[in-house]
Amino acid sequence: MGIVDEMVGASPAICAVFDLVRKMATTEMPVLITGETGTGKELTAQAIHERSLRKHGPFVPINCGAIPETLLESELFGHERGAFTGAVQQKKGKLEAAGGGTVFLDEVGDLLPTLQVKLLRFLQEGTFERVGGQETLHVDARVLAATNVDLKTAISKNLFREDLYYRLGVLHIHLPPLRNRGEDPLLMATIFLKQAAVTYRKQIRGYTPQAIDALRTYSWPGNVRELSNRVRRAVVMAEGMEITPQDLDLAVEDLQTVDSLNSLRAAHRRIEMELLVKAISLHRGNLTRMARDLEVSRSTLYRKLRAYGLEKFMPAATPLSFRSKTKFNKSKQSLPQEHGRGISPEPIPDLPLKPAHEIPQSV
Ligand SMILES: Nc1ncnc2c1ncn2[C@@H]1O[C@H](COP(=O)(O)OP(=O)(O)OP(=O)(O)O)[C@@H](O)[C@H]1O
Ligand SMILES: [Mg+2]
Repeated sequence: MGIVDEMVGASPAICAVFDLVRKMATTEMPVLITGETGTGKELTAQAIHERSLRKHGPFVPINCGAIPETLLESELFGHERGAFTGAVQQKKGKLEAAGGGTVFLDEVGDLLPTLQVKLLRFLQEGTFERVGGQETLHVDARVLAATNVDLKTAISKNLFREDLYYRLGVLHIHLPPLRNRGEDPLLMATIFLKQAAVTYRKQIRGYTPQAIDALRTYSWPGNVRELSNRVRRAVVMAEGMEITPQDLDLAVEDLQTVDSLNSLRAAHRRIEMELLVKAISLHRGNLTRMARDLEVSRSTLYRKLRAYGLEKFMPAATPLSFRSKTKFNKSKQSLPQEHGRGISPEPIPDLPLKPAHEIPQSV
């Protein structure tokens, strides 16, 4: 079973999602997860699985949009020997592979009408036949599905069955785009930077003020995936101790114009947040030293950290959002694994913020 990456976020929009995941994980019903590209639909599906009673069973993803139509039925439901040219032996499909666990149907809007019927029957009765098979199989797999197309529009164009939509979407989670998640881009950028700095063994302290502005004002059309890729790239490209907008490849003209007259409060928040992030980094989360440096009391400082959702990034923090127990239990000393790449065990001295997987979490 794969390790679920942690979901990072402190904005009200993403905290509402965490709440839904918590509640929906404990049921057996299908969940439909929607959201723009890169918003974390698959990660959310994994988080639901990891928090469900099925967590010891398999999590089996299948991308319905990436598999040629002719192969999809067999991929999903399996086939019998001789079912079609090239079917030299019986093959189990992803549904069977997900027995006792969860199947994640990504891009479910791309399913052809015939497969929609077959899926609907599986959702209603838990049964299906392999391609070319007579035997009716019963499989105990929970279905989670995702789409970034609007299924209601697909229904109106007769491309998606309404009955299937209602079956799949009784429980629905919509992931907000990153641009609507308040200060989350900055929080994520801080965490991703720490992880990437460890991975690529670079001594990078943080972001320049201009880079922080860029991170906060860019509209993130590719959402979290884009943010994560840009930060990783920046860490590789950076020549100095701080990441610049150029390292992030965020040209000034890409940035949204910052609002003007009503932005005094916003500017205040931005500066406070920036200082807090810097102070955590500089003083390795030592509250007393941070308070002294920022010339506020410890209690004021703590209140501010909470207000910005930053208290989770303090080393001895109280829990925040999601983490995979599997990952957490692996080793508190272990450093993040990035898709099979080994990671240097050396800590980065100037960046006390914990890598995402080490931040104590609870949902
Ligand atoms: N809240 C989050 N915290 C940390 N990482 C995240 C978060 N959301 C998404 N990611 C990361 O962003 C990347 C994209 O996430 P994911 O693949 O789940 O998105 P998606 O919505 O399925 O994208 P697509 O529509 O392109 O399939 C992954 O590397 C994932 O680990
Ligand atoms: Mg996806």
